[in-house]
Amino acid sequence: MTERPTHACGRKQKANAITGTDKTNRLLKSEMTLGGATTTTTTTQQQAYGEPWYWDNRYANESGAFDWYQKYQSLAPIINLYVPRHNHLRHRILVVGCGNSAFSEGMADDGYEEVLSIDISSVVIQAMQEKHSNRQDLKYLEMDVRDMNAFQTASFDAVIDKGTLDSLLCGSNSQQNAARMLSEVWRVLKDKGVYILVTYGAPLYRLRLLKESSSWVIKLHVIDKLVSDDKSEHPIWELTNPVPLNDDGSSAEELLGNNPDVHFIYICTKDNSLKPGLKREVSVD
Ligand SMILES: C[S@@+](CC[C@H](N)C(=O)[O-])C[C@H]1O[C@@H](n2cnc3c(N)ncnc32)[C@H](O)[C@@H]1O
Repeated sequence: MTERPTHACGRKQKANAITGTDKTNRLLKSEMTLGGATTTTTTTQQQAYGEPWYWDNRYANESGAFDWYQKYQSLAPIINLYVPRHNHLRHRILVVGCGNSAFSEGMADDGYEEVLSIDISSVVIQAMQEKHSNRQDLKYLEMDVRDMNAFQTASFDAVIDKGTLDSLLCGSNSQQNAARMLSEVWRVLKDKGVYILVTYGAPLYRLRLLKESSSWVIKLHVIDKLVSDDKSEHPIWELTNPVPLNDDGSSAEELLGNNPDVHFIYICTKDNSLKPGLKREVSVD
């Protein structure tokens, strides 16, 4: 099943300048700024988010960095919490579906020494390789997140996804594609490694998908959607406090309300000691 347009690819920060000249791009971006495609995005446009050709076309017309949902600086407290730096361990980080986002660069500037980013779009990967050719701590590779054969099993400490699972869920064969992606993410993570998923998808939509894919230990955080560069003085929920999460995610809705103005951050820890088939754990912090 493909996700319906009302859940389309979430809302974006107004702070991001619209850089592309393509009319369609601008239309889609303004729709996202307004809180997700509602009236003007057609199902065809929506489904295109799951197709490589769509992204190639888009990146061919887009210059400059563009971050979906949130910038690194807003999410840094949560990334630092679950992927601690400066503990004498060199963490290997994989950013999946990086696009032309400045997120990986933000991580490297923040002290992460090995940040590898992949995207299915050859156009954007070539641009990012050229842009960061002088940096040893940043690497960009063209790769499909559904087939990361080039990476060994259990070779990353963290996998970070901002908007990529969401894109796959917009396309055709969405459930199969999402399942393939999540299975590959699980495979490349080390035991106790974390998959950090930043998404517009509420627990009602994302929890079951995650729990069906593998035996993750899942925590939930939320961050306000921003409409300007100003930080909200009164966030709906403190970023670094996990939101209490019961098995079906209804606890989050009870606490935050229906359709809260937030992006959801799922912290999924790979735990090899949890055998598939056993009851999957959900944090109740
Ligand atoms: C919504 S954008 C998010 C970009 C970036 N992560 C950000 O936060 O700004 C989704 C990205 O996923 C990439 N993508 C889509 N399907 C993919 C796949 N199967 N494998 C790898 N990347 C994919 C697209 O090319 C696009 O760059």
